[in-house]
Amino acid sequence: MMMESEILEAVKKFGYLNQRIDPALDLFAEIEKLKKEKNAIILAHYYQDADIQDIADYRGDSLGLAQQAEKTTADLIVFAGVHFMAETAKLLNPNKKVVLPDLNAGCSLADSCPPEDFRKFKEAHPNHIVISYINCTAGIKALSDIICTSSNAIKIVESVPADQKIIFAPDKNLGAYIMKKTGRDMILWDGACMVHEIFSLEKIMKLKHQHPKAKVIAHPECEDPVLKQADFIGSTTALLNYTSHNPADEFIVVTESGIIHQMQLANPHKTFIPAPPENNCACNDCPHMKLNTLEKLYLCMKYEVPEVLIPEELAADALRPLKRMLEISASHGL
Ligand code: 13P
Ligand code: SF4
Repeated sequence: MMMESEILEAVKKFGYLNQRIDPALDLFAEIEKLKKEKNAIILAHYYQDADIQDIADYRGDSLGLAQQAEKTTADLIVFAGVHFMAETAKLLNPNKKVVLPDLNAGCSLADSCPPEDFRKFKEAHPNHIVISYINCTAGIKALSDIICTSSNAIKIVESVPADQKIIFAPDKNLGAYIMKKTGRDMILWDGACMVHEIFSLEKIMKLKHQHPKAKVIAHPECEDPVLKQADFIGSTTALLNYTSHNPADEFIVVTESGIIHQMQLANPHKTFIPAPPENNCACNDCPHMKLNTLEKLYLCMKYEVPEVLIPEELAADALRPLKRMLEISASHGL
């Protein structure tokens, strides 16, 4: 066992526990044991590695994960995802311990919207309400009126009276997509996801040509020219459901490639082709999501660090728009 001072020092220095693990240890069995011992729940986003998705108690998109976090009775929430997601779980569970395998697991979209800059932006647009995509820090949530995710964004925007002016942050691509779908004019913050922004239009068009029967499915964080190629656009959960319900045998998947694990499990006889990015990689991984590993997950459960903490005053302000989103979602059966 590590000493408490060693644990804290390692977490401070690296953002995770870097202890060596006996390679003979069955991590799946150990994690299952820890779950029972600690009354812990593992919540994993679909962009996590397949091993992490397999050991999780619940896998989902950002909305599903927030809803699970809201209703869990576990004492320890182990969040296999990125920081803003674990922070969301903590906002909904101020009296529970929430741990994240690697505190460095951030998000380029959340980083593109620093609270101090956003406060000025908001002041420059008085009489607007703020709808923020859940992919933002607690600091941005605290400056927002309602939160949304890619699953409920259209319904959330439509829940606001038509004459009410709206600022949408931080994802300009999702914002532009919602504007198109709802006909609402919104002021957009200039942020984007580094993963969804770099899909290659040219390579996607080439794949379509090579697989003429394949359906193209895309996440609304992608840029408009890429979205124009899609047969279906939706959140990760919506994309997964589409592949199960649509009779097509082949799908070109234009989102982070981790979701393909669930698509393949649900549809073993169908073919899923990851859409390539502009660089030389064949598929598109989120480098933040992929910082979490099974080893880090095990250590984080064993030692209950790194813990996600939010200052109390900030938490109260950030929780309000999040609760609003969950209420609106529930009223629409989402
Ligand atoms: P959803 O989980 O809402 O599909 O969003 C995808 C994403 O980029 C999460 O970081
Ligand atoms: Fe952030 Fe994009 Fe990674 Fe999602 S996929 S965590 S939006 S950088």
